[in-house]
Amino acid sequence: MAEETVADAESRVTRNAIDLLTADHRKAETLFNEYDGLKEGSPEEKYEVAKKVCGDLLIHMALEEAIFYPAVREKVSDEELVNEAEVEHNGAKDLIRQLGEIKPDDPMFDATMKVLSEQIDHHVQEEESSMFPKARLSGLDINALGAQLQEAKNEMRTRLGLEPE
Ligand SMILES: [Fe+2]
Ligand SMILES: [Fe+2]
Repeated sequence: MAEETVADAESRVTRNAIDLLTADHRKAETLFNEYDGLKEGSPEEKYEVAKKVCGDLLIHMALEEAIFYPAVREKVSDEELVNEAEVEHNGAKDLIRQLGEIKPDDPMFDATMKVLSEQIDHHVQEEESSMFPKARLSGLDINALGAQLQEAKNEMRTRLGLEPE
């Protein structure tokens, strides 16, 4: 486990909601790419990366649903935008649940990871090209929301035995 520097901690607390959520998206992409690079890897290695990305995604979706989406619903008059995002979350959660029932040496594990990464890719694109710009324009207090998201994220990660980030 890497030592956290003061600068790391500071950059964490000062991130606005959009920067924080966008950083999560980039991290998920990196982990999906890492998984892709494990074509010839052992089932254990694949499982470790899959577990990490699924855990991060579940936390990310829970944070958006509990804090960010309700704030967007209130400020941005585009109900469909948030409704569709929630349906996409449900689809991703269902795939993650299915992964939990497949052994990592089963070819269906790779197939499910592939579809999950494609669905997340689409969802992330929608958020970054549509929801986030609209949220920014709506006058949403993204700084206050960022602090709220960060606190809830650390609480969740600590509860799950993960290091804060
Ligand atoms: Fe997101
Ligand atoms: Fe989302």
